[in-house]
Parts: sequence; C-alpha cells; structure tokens
Amino acid sequence: MATITVKGGEALGGRVMVSGSKNAALPIIFASLLTKGESVIRRVPDIGDVRVATSIIESLGARCERSGDTLLINTERLTFRRPDDNLVSQIRASTYLLGASLARFGIAAIQSFGGCDFCKRPIDLHLLACRAFGADVRGDSIFSHGLRGASIRFPKVSVGATVNAILLAATASGKSRIENFAREPHIFNLIDYLRSAGADIQVLENVIIIHGRELHGGNVAIDGDPIEAGTYAALSAITGGNITVLGIDPASLESYLAPLLEAGAQLDTDDGITLRALPKEQTSIVAEPYPGFPTDLQPIAAPILACARGGTIEDRVWQGRFGYLAALAPFGVRYRAYPTGAEIFPSELRAADTIAPDLRGGAAALLIALAAVGESRIRSSEIIARGYENIEKKLRTLGAEIRIDN
Ligand code: EPU
Repeated sequence: MATITVKGGEALGGRVMVSGSKNAALPIIFASLLTKGESVIRRVPDIGDVRVATSIIESLGARCERSGDTLLINTERLTFRRPDDNLVSQIRASTYLLGASLARFGIAAIQSFGGCDFCKRPIDLHLLACRAFGADVRGDSIFSHGLRGASIRFPKVSVGATVNAILLAATASGKSRIENFAREPHIFNLIDYLRSAGADIQVLENVIIIHGRELHGGNVAIDGDPIEAGTYAALSAITGGNITVLGIDPASLESYLAPLLEAGAQLDTDDGITLRALPKEQTSIVAEPYPGFPTDLQPIAAPILACARGGTIEDRVWQGRFGYLAALAPFGVRYRAYPTGAEIFPSELRAADTIAPDLRGGAAALLIALAAVGESRIRSSEIIARGYENIEKKLRTLGAEIRIDN
C-alpha cells in the first residue's frame, strides 16, 4: 500500500505535458490481438492499467516491448488460454478480451472483470454484442464458429460495449452496422488504429459501418489524456496557481470547461491550457456520455466547486459515483449527496488524512490535499498511479512538496 504525503497550500505553476490517454491505450492494446504482425503504438502511458493489459496479452503469446513511450506488440503467434483471474480482475478494460479473444480464437472466457468499484458495472451490453455476431454464451465461456457481420443498435450508450462491437465486426465476415454507439474521442483513436491495420470502418452520423477484413500490424499514436489534462487544469485554479497544460487539443476539454467558464472561471489557451481563476458563481455540472461533461472529470471538478462558490453535480453515466465525497470530507469539504448527484458547498479546507477510494476519487483527494494548507496524507494511493503517469515527478516540477512511500 502506498501513501502520498503532500504539504499543500502553495500556488503551483509551470508547464506540464500530458501523457497518452489511458482509455484510448487500453482498447488499442487489446485490439492488437486481432492483428497478425507487429503493431507500433506511440505515446503509450506507463501506468498501472497499461502494465496489466500488456501482461494479459503477453499471457496469450503476444510479445510486447516498450521503448520510451512506444509499445511494440507482436501478435504473430498467439494461443488461447484463460487469462489469469488475478490480472483480469484488476482492470475494467479486460472486458475487451470478450471481443478480441472471440475474434482471434473463437472462444472467450467470462471472468470477474475488474475496475474502479464506484458503481455496479454490468456486462449485459457486451454479451448482447457477442450474441449479435453469432457467438454462443455457455456458462462462463463464449464460443463462435466464425463471427458473422451483424446489425446492432445498443439500447444504451456504452464505451466498453461499443469497443467490443467494433472488435467483433472488424474481422467478422461481411458487413456490420453499429448504432447508438459511444462517441468518446478514444473510440476514434481505436478506429484510427484498426484502420492502420487494414480495417474497413466508416463512421457516419448515426451508424458505424464495418466490412470485416484480415488485419495486419498497425501503427498509431495515442491522443493526449483529457482526464489527466483536466486534473492539472483544476490544480492550477484551486491552488491559485498558473499551470500550463500542454499536449492536448483544447477542443477535447470543451465540455469540461464549459460549465466552469459559464460560472466565471478564466481560461487562457494562447499556449496550452491554463485555468487561471475559479468560478465566481455557483456551478452546475451534469455528466453525460460524449459530447457531454465527462463522468471521469466530475470527481475532479468537485474540488473546484468546493474551493469556489459551490454548486451541483449530477452523473447520468454512473449515477452512484459520489462515494468519493466521503474521502474529501476530512479536508473540510462540505456536501450533501443524493441518489443521482450531490450539492457541494463552499468549503474552508484543512490538512487531513484520507484513503483513496478509487482512481478519480483518489485524484480528487490529492487535489484537495494540495490546496489545503499543511501536511496531508492519502493512503492506498497506488490506485492513483493506475491512471496518472509520473504523477510525483510532474507535481514536483510544478512546485509541489510531495513524497510517495510504497
Ligand atoms: N452499462 C450497462 N451494461 C453494460 C455496460 C455498461 O448497463 O454491459 C452501463 C453502465 O452501468 C454505465 C453506462 O452503461 O451506467 C456506461 O458504462 P460504459 O460501458 O460506457 O463504461 P466502461 O466502458 O465500463 C469506460 C471507462 C471509464 C468511464 C466510462 C464512461 C475505460 C477502461 N473505462 O468504462 O473510465 O467512466 O467508460 O465514460 O475506458 C476511469 O478512467 O476512471 C473510468 C472509470
């Protein structure tokens, strides 16, 4: 168990380069299982979730080699075996094995897929996709004797199920249509990778059309991580600092910044992104599937509201994703949680000790600790490193006093 100790209350400033997006890298790593050859994936963040995903595909015979931020994956010779439950249960992205393994081997194991434990995380839509492409779900395994192109319209938008449908369609025989799909930027990063590997994918306004093909190795660069970018932008505003976030297209943060700017926060985009001042009024946030406010940034926005004039947060993706607020309470964050959201009140912060409840909730606690005057500790902080590359080094460069004890 790791503990982060910080001395907070200082204005932080400087330039920080965001790493490649976790939620884009993970589906691409699993998608490499569909290809036969060597893939070159650039700007891959060196974070816990990526290391676990790499170990899972290595256990199926993939050869992975990291050189700087480039990951080379050779998938020439793979053999199906049930991946280690210990690895699979660590990350939610292991659900991508359903599509990838079925497509490559004609069999996939239904396991206890992991991920942050902030809500119930069903897999019914993933199984719906597997069945639509002609697979049979029997007990804890799924079988197919050749995937067939299919038309699927999801009853609800899901990032993970959209990824699996794309993976299933990419090498299935014939034409597939996927409707009511997730449109997060990382879905498009995955499509870029698959196209580079020879996939025939067209994205129209309301439908993705895929003609199945054999795939060879691909070559892609992962986009900058909007969640990491939003986290450092928040840190700038809540410490009254001047942090310039680099390596991200400001447009990818538009829905995050919009309610903050509407409430009077100040933004500078001349050179990177700098959130210069807190909202001057109450802020109202509603997290929704893309292009709505990203759910993964709502815990990151909570410290902004607490340090400014307060406001409300509603989450329509993960309705119960507010357990993290209890981890902010020791710092003096005042809130009232209700079933689908929370009201956050302007709060007088104080240094405190807490436990990181999950990845983004842990990052929120770290933000609050850096804003509160005095020495604070965040225990079980290894969960934060699952999604933030070099967080200790990056924060030090910005002037933070931080120590991580493992
Ligand atoms: N859902 C179902 N059935 C399913 C799948 C999902 O009902 O079979 C529901 C969920 O319960 C939820 C909604 O659909 O209410 C959306 O879930 P989604 O499938 O889109 O989420 P996910 O693919 O499991 C990814 C990210 C999450 C992020 C969500 C939403 C990865 C590895 N994870 O999860 O990221 O919150 O999309 O954008 O890409 C994080 O990075 O901290 C994180 C949790």
